Amino acid sequence: MYSYYQNEAKLPPHILVLILIYNNRLYWLTHPDGRAQLELPERASQYMHQLDRHLGKAMRAGWIKLPNVLFIYNTDDNSGRTGNPNRNITVPPFSLCKSRGWFHGDDLDILVPQMIAIPDALHSVPWHLKKDLAFFRGVPSCSRIWEQTYKREEACARMHLAYLSERDRRAGNATALDVGLADEYKVVGPDKSTPYELPKFERVPLSTHAHYKWLLNLEGMVAAYRMGQLLSMNSLVLYQRSIFIEYYYRSLQPWVHYVPFWNATGPDGEPVMDDVYRVLDDVRRLDREQPAALQRIIANAQGVAKLLGKQMRLEYYRVALERYKNLFPDMDPYLDSYVQELRKRGSDI
Ligand SMILES: *[C@@H]1O[C@H](CO)[C@@H](O)[C@H](O)[C@H]1NC(C)=O
Ligand SMILES: *[C@@H]1O[C@H](CO)[C@@H](O)[C@H](O)[C@H]1NC(C)=O
Ligand SMILES: *[C@@H]1O[C@H](CO)[C@@H](O)[C@H](O)[C@H]1NC(C)=O
Repeated sequence: MYSYYQNEAKLPPHILVLILIYNNRLYWLTHPDGRAQLELPERASQYMHQLDRHLGKAMRAGWIKLPNVLFIYNTDDNSGRTGNPNRNITVPPFSLCKSRGWFHGDDLDILVPQMIAIPDALHSVPWHLKKDLAFFRGVPSCSRIWEQTYKREEACARMHLAYLSERDRRAGNATALDVGLADEYKVVGPDKSTPYELPKFERVPLSTHAHYKWLLNLEGMVAAYRMGQLLSMNSLVLYQRSIFIEYYYRSLQPWVHYVPFWNATGPDGEPVMDDVYRVLDDVRRLDREQPAALQRIIANAQGVAKLLGKQMRLEYYRVALERYKNLFPDMDPYLDSYVQELRKRGSDI
């Protein structure tokens, strides 16, 4: 673990840390040779803050019992692929996102839930009162992994769909998309995601989303962590096909929990970036001809969302850490001597 950690020095310590669970307390270490402390390090990512807030609190209150264990906690967006199988890492980090089906094969990180965008309730608006548009608001972030597929610089889903939406608005036929970026976006040109600058839209609260029949889940730098929250609405999630996954995505199936688009081929066999229109035609037809089948997809999605709340996320940490620990028969004796060492170095543990 030590040598692995040194190789990882590229990622700053407010993103990549060691966590020691000992006697059901959560200790942070910014370096294996440093001190273990109960308080968050001075510089800590928002993900570390939220883990401390939720998991730390549940442990202090005795609501959850975790085994003694030492692990690497990686709160980077992980586009740099810490767990790339080509890297011959000694132990896998616990990460919030990883890639599947990219070059060199599936990342080896152990996925655990981010504790920020948590669906805490189901949101419902009567179906007939919802707007018949595919909705998205979000910052203009981009993975850039589609450049080769679409032979276009950046080839960002968020920016391109925002462009299509604006193009239709200007032509007076915005009948399909309502996509807006929550920031200015000035990277424009004929080979870019948008040929002209796009207007900036206000951010909207989550509850506003339930007023649209169709909700777009669009990749940012990596997976869009709002996915769980979109699944909690009684709207249909149109999911951009992506290689980035959170801990629960492998339990989701197309046309069972969501409807996929993107990375599809057009009539001439070439990849197209606007297949969302065709997919929208498909789901509108399903809504007209077999409304019960469409509502079943939505019910399935809300069924999953119910399992993505705070308690279930904490349970997921518990099971992941128990199974991880079982892979190391010498974890307990190792921790005993490591804790001795930490005490000698002045850690209050
Ligand atoms: C992987 O790492 C181990 C441990 O450091 C080393 O023994 C082994 O030779 C490495 N394998 C490759 C293919 O680099
Ligand atoms: C809106 O009009 C533009 C320009 O004619 C066209 O390219 C686009 O496909 C239309 N969009 C819709 C949703 O009909
Ligand atoms: C994109 O399409 C290609 C070609 O069909 C396929 O090999 C790849 O897995 C797809 N990627 C995603 C993320 O769906």
